[in-house]
Amino acid sequence: MLQHKKILLGVTGSIAAYKSALLARELQRRGAEVRVIMTPSATEFITPLTLATLTGHRVYSDFTENKDSGEWTNHVELGLWGDLFLIAPATAQTLSAMVAGTCDNFLMAVHLSSRCPVIAAPAMDLDMFQHDATQTNLKTLQKRGVPIIEPESGPLASGLDGKGRMAEPETIADWLESWFQSQAPLAGKKVVMTAGPTHEPIDAVRFIGNRSSGKMGFALATALKQSGANVHLISGPVQLSDPLGVHVTRVETAVEMHAAALEAFKTADIGIATAAVADFRAKSSASEKLHRNEMPAAIELHENPDILADWGKQKRNDQLLVGFALESDDGVNSAKSKLERKNLDMIVLNSTADPGAGFGTDTNKISVFEQNGNSHIFELKSKEEVAQDIVQLIQIQLQQ
Ligand code: CTP
Repeated sequence: MLQHKKILLGVTGSIAAYKSALLARELQRRGAEVRVIMTPSATEFITPLTLATLTGHRVYSDFTENKDSGEWTNHVELGLWGDLFLIAPATAQTLSAMVAGTCDNFLMAVHLSSRCPVIAAPAMDLDMFQHDATQTNLKTLQKRGVPIIEPESGPLASGLDGKGRMAEPETIADWLESWFQSQAPLAGKKVVMTAGPTHEPIDAVRFIGNRSSGKMGFALATALKQSGANVHLISGPVQLSDPLGVHVTRVETAVEMHAAALEAFKTADIGIATAAVADFRAKSSASEKLHRNEMPAAIELHENPDILADWGKQKRNDQLLVGFALESDDGVNSAKSKLERKNLDMIVLNSTADPGAGFGTDTNKISVFEQNGNSHIFELKSKEEVAQDIVQLIQIQLQQ
């Protein structure tokens, strides 16, 4: 959840400032971009050089860039850059200044001008933490929507033992991941998806299949996960590794995919069928490899179940159903008829007639038709960008 997140890390004057170096490292390790702002007193506990070296960016602590030329540091720009302003450690003094709206140093100026959420991880001695003034300040901040990452108990710099130690960097990073997860647009939504081809055995080594690489489905699963959804991906045989944080069930045949998909759909909020399911299977298959002279002249075929159509029959009013249609002509009429026939809310059409679209490519060009009559035509894009477009349309549908 921290991948590509822009985190402004505010460091204030506490001995816990030494942990900010580890915190910056941990946030970057999890994929975040970090810029550090320090109060003047924080620079007495840890040098800006340490944090600048670790983050690969200058540290901001002063209003002026260059005293001789009069260049100033733009606190408004910095405040707008972040997805989140994390003040860790936050001293009793800083918490009080946040409540009062004081603006007597650069960090507090960014605090007032930032539009992103602010989160504080307090650090102080136990009596300071328990003081009515501090507790009242913490409650005021929480009421204003500033979440507080609770300090931990243990030995303190004063020699006393109690609650006041800043939470450990790993704990703060875990906390932020859960927080971003809870803020994500598809948080709490359960998605079941099918992807890839299916292989229908003829004998122990031969099968009926198709050229689907599964790339579009896997990219979509990743994008849905990054939007906070809980994703269960049921995939046919593909050469792709499991997307991070996605629950993957690997199957071979359409019948196996059908069984897994129908079971998972019962508790899902959203069903998305990207799989290129083989429409037919061999009526009988041999468990051994058939030799050339044992091969039948013709293979009798048996129709496979239509997973998406069966989802459409089961669909409740609170479920959203998305299908895909791969056509070799412009395919609009065929896609629209599948939208109706399979009781879908949305169908994503791609045509092999468009260069760069379809099986095996890293790009795709889609048009989306919705049950409510809306349609959207997109340019050729990478499959990752196409996935983002589809996720956005799903979010809009859920809001309607
Ligand atoms: N689909 C499915 N199960 C099948 C066949 C298709 O779940 N047995 C789903 C696909 O995952 C896709 C949608 O149905 O989301 C449309 O698939 P497509 O192969 O284009 O359509 P078909 O219904 O098979 O129609 P046709 O092959 O005649 O175009």
